Amino acid sequence: MWVLIFFWLHYAARLCNGGVTSSYIRKPRASVDLPLELFPSPLGFNAPEQVHITQGDRVGRSMIISWVTPIKPYPNEVTYWEDINGKHGHKHKISAKITSYRYYNYTSGFIHHATVRRLKYDTKYIYELGKHNTTRRFHFTTPPQVGPDVPYTFGVMGEQIYSRVNSIMYSLYLQFMLMYLGDLGQTYDSNQTFEHYVANRKGQAVLFLGDLSYADDYEFHDNRRWDSWAKFVEKSVAYQPWIWTAGNHELDYAPEIEENTPFKPYMHRYHVPYKASQSTSPLWYSIKRASAYIIVLSSYSAYGTYTPQYNWLQQELPKVNRAETPWLIVLLHSPWYNSNNYHYMEGESMRVMFESWFVQNKVDLVFAGHVHSYERSERISNTKYNITNNLGTPMKDASAPVYITIGDGGNIEGLANNFSEPQPSYSAFREASFGHAILEIKNRTHAFYSWYRNHENEPIAADSTWFYNRYWYPHEEPSSTKN
Ligand SMILES: [Fe+2]
Repeated sequence: MWVLIFFWLHYAARLCNGGVTSSYIRKPRASVDLPLELFPSPLGFNAPEQVHITQGDRVGRSMIISWVTPIKPYPNEVTYWEDINGKHGHKHKISAKITSYRYYNYTSGFIHHATVRRLKYDTKYIYELGKHNTTRRFHFTTPPQVGPDVPYTFGVMGEQIYSRVNSIMYSLYLQFMLMYLGDLGQTYDSNQTFEHYVANRKGQAVLFLGDLSYADDYEFHDNRRWDSWAKFVEKSVAYQPWIWTAGNHELDYAPEIEENTPFKPYMHRYHVPYKASQSTSPLWYSIKRASAYIIVLSSYSAYGTYTPQYNWLQQELPKVNRAETPWLIVLLHSPWYNSNNYHYMEGESMRVMFESWFVQNKVDLVFAGHVHSYERSERISNTKYNITNNLGTPMKDASAPVYITIGDGGNIEGLANNFSEPQPSYSAFREASFGHAILEIKNRTHAFYSWYRNHENEPIAADSTWFYNRYWYPHEEPSSTKN
């Protein structure tokens, strides 16, 4: 399709001072605002929309089922049952908590959050929302019981989904307008990263690194964009949980229009099980899933000494039992190691506060978003500096995490020139492009990781490597990359 031919490829990667800087260059293209009509509500009066699911407890036996009814608060029930080889198990019905909010001149629909509890591990469930002609049916599979050698596959996505889709979807929208056929819902198929992830089918849950709707890019933070984004991603997030991280675009802090409560739309719409990890805020929390222990931090909440997030993380890290969950993974939005000039050093103050804890506790992987490119670090740390000793250089450190940035990648600003030169020694692989990653945990020692570049119509595995667990098998990994 002509609308998708925007790329050109030159494969000769070059070696720099550090690792590999891929010379794949994505051709810049303009981003076009989409008409909201591209995100229609489901047919039927007050039909449930914007359906999404989130792990609802510590270990994956609960699920938060969330949806919006645009006009009336009812019906407000979820009906769910176990799928036993295609036959229905006993049906259960629970009610949701309902919330709504106002933001400047916008009033949200009725936002429902229902927590389904005491589910069986590794079991498929069907759930229904709405009633009569507005009934909508979805399904999900619970994770296996937490354990050290339980394989599990995560998808990893940054912020690209909605903003990056714009010009492609707009082109398809124009095609629709020209041909007068088709279903507007089909345009949901047009985002490359999202579609590649959905088509991959390996991922069982998503580690999402923040910046959801970009509503704040619109006048008065047009909150209808929160609605449209939720409709857009429904085809994935209604069927598998996304583990949410807050980005800067979730702040929605706008005192000029008297919106002084940070994260108001995000926290009304996306509920997470933060209390289960003794957190006092949904912006930082942890969960266990299969053989992974996942800690989510907030780059945009206070993290200095004595703050709630600092105190929580200090108490949280010693709780991790690597004999139960060998893989310790941290999600945050603003990367600590980023050799792109874009957002350079924005994550530095948080790194200074917490990096030594990560090394002491042998964190395996740290995923971040925010920066419009892809980058994977060596295992390095930079914790020896004090204000007088001149020791401020990242050094190889077998106890340190690998830092991975999966942000947007490719926009009108011209990505090719955004990396600092020469490539720092801590940077193993970087590319001014965008895509998604798949993290396949095999057992307590090994995980296979691939980052897929969006290349024309195909996801291309541009950076693949094995990760060895820092607790159980702290050997040096092969620097096997391909591009
Ligand atoms: Fe961001």
